Amino acid sequence: MRIDIITVLPKLLEGPFADSILKRAIDKDLVDIHVHDLRTYGMGKHRQVDDYQFGGGAGMVMMIEPIETLINALKSEREYDEVIFMTPDGEVFDQSTANSLSLQKNLILLCGHYKGIDERIRETLITKEISIGDYVLSGGELAAAVVTDAVVRLIPGVLNNETSALSDSFQDDLLSPPVYTRPSDYKGLKVPEVLLSGDFNRIDAWRQEQAEQRTKTRRPDIWNKKSELKD
Ligand code: ADE
Repeated sequence: MRIDIITVLPKLLEGPFADSILKRAIDKDLVDIHVHDLRTYGMGKHRQVDDYQFGGGAGMVMMIEPIETLINALKSEREYDEVIFMTPDGEVFDQSTANSLSLQKNLILLCGHYKGIDERIRETLITKEISIGDYVLSGGELAAAVVTDAVVRLIPGVLNNETSALSDSFQDDLLSPPVYTRPSDYKGLKVPEVLLSGDFNRIDAWRQEQAEQRTKTRRPDIWNKKSELKD
């Protein structure tokens, strides 16, 4: 998979891909991540990428031309499955969107800044709009990093043990059960006996029950949606 990220703040995206699972995925050539500095395509001597909004009002708006030029340059090299704009008014990102994006070959993520982007970019170049939650970030970069992380870890071969993505919270619309490691007794705080029993049927049943209990109490919205689907 290839992910092209368009930003005016490329430095913000240096950290998230330089470590751990994302770095390993890049090193293993399972994903190719390209961060593009939009300013390279900026207008005039000052490489301008934003301007005042028509009609007045505070805040600058990102201009169409630099973004269109960059996106068209990328599109001339390969076909893209989605051109995604990171924005708080997009569809809220969840595990099912992560799953479907992980099956794609080439994605563009456009990070917004300032007051927003010229609406004509959304109308003509963007195929999908994603929000990572109902709050406003200073820009789309951290959101793009979140989406990239959630998607890349689902690409086969990225995680050491492929089943571990399948047992993630949300993957079957359930939160994960609690986990424990040594010592089995820490200052009187004991690990549930069933986990030490070696009886894997009992352990599986316990985990399933804990996952259901957690989902019911912590995320009744997910639990009720799951129950409705079953009926
Ligand atoms: N840009 C600013 N806030 C955002 C959010 N919540 N999700 C995605 N992109 C954003």
